[in-house]
Amino acid sequence: MTSVDWFSLLHPVLVILFVYPVVGATVRLGILVREKRLGITQQPDTVPAEHSDHGRWLASGVVVAVLIALLYSFVSTFVADAAAFAGGGGRLAQLLLAVGGTLLSLMTLWRVRRPLWRACFALLCWAGLLGLGSQPEIWRLSDNPLTGRFWASHYWAGILLTGLLLWTTAARPEIQRSLRLRRLHVSAAVLISLLLAVQAITGSRDLLEIPLSWQKPAIYSCDFNARRCPVPEPQGSAGPAPGVAIVAALA
Ligand code: HEM
Ligand code: HEM
Repeated sequence: MTSVDWFSLLHPVLVILFVYPVVGATVRLGILVREKRLGITQQPDTVPAEHSDHGRWLASGVVVAVLIALLYSFVSTFVADAAAFAGGGGRLAQLLLAVGGTLLSLMTLWRVRRPLWRACFALLCWAGLLGLGSQPEIWRLSDNPLTGRFWASHYWAGILLTGLLLWTTAARPEIQRSLRLRRLHVSAAVLISLLLAVQAITGSRDLLEIPLSWQKPAIYSCDFNARRCPVPEPQGSAGPAPGVAIVAALA
């Protein structure tokens, strides 16, 4: 594996090591908050704050992991062929600036108190991810919600998940105060949990499908719709080389 290949592992590793364990703790604490409020079990007074603190870390972890995935796609495309990268080094610098701006809006979301500012910075952060994700270097399966491929897209489910988490983080004081918003939050949390499972499945699928950097020229010459790879001319008369036989068997 080259250093670019190791970089591609940073996003899944961060999600598996940091995000999913925090998901477990957040869900458990959320259930305890509900049990405490309904008087089903006795819980310490710190449980609601612990839950929402974990939720905030979860949202931030997901945003950072997504930014790393996007950054990888830009940098790896640039490193592979700088001359073919649309806009060249100048555009790459602009994209890096947008990544920094998105991170800054996330950090500001942690600090601001007024509802309008919270809504603005959550939206700004999400818009930053959408803007970066809409670039041609980002693999999105399909952008048409009327096709099945759109709903199987790791990118679009990730964007929806990030939006829901950012909304929850921004509305934290209102969720604490209002029963209606708490009910809405629980419904959103069910969808969030479902999307986290979807991301684990589609992310593992993508890991299987994406070749290592030095394998790309061979793999991308395959016809992905027909599920067939070009079979090179056999060397000599003793039949196809062992590697060719494997490619033919896979097709
Ligand atoms: C998988 C993710 C999550 C699940 C399953 C979840 C679940 C829950 C549940 C069951 C409750 C109790 C509702 C009730 O009392 O009826 C709750 C409350 C709450 N959640 Fe979450 N939640 C999640 C993520 C988040 C996130 C990301 C935040 C953002 C900071 C958050 C903030 C809150 C707040 C502020 C409350 C109200 C606590 C209080 O009553 O003081 N949650 N959550
Ligand atoms: C919280 C859960 C996750 C979210 C929100 C998320 C989101 C994203 C996003 C937005 C991208 C950018 C698409 C791109 O660069 O092309 C991406 C890329 C990727 N993700 Fe995830 N992801 C999550 C979990 C995972 C997991 C658990 C794995 C693997 C086990 C994984 C594997 C990948 C891979 C391999 C890519 C690169 C795809 C490519 O560059 O075309 N992700 N992810």
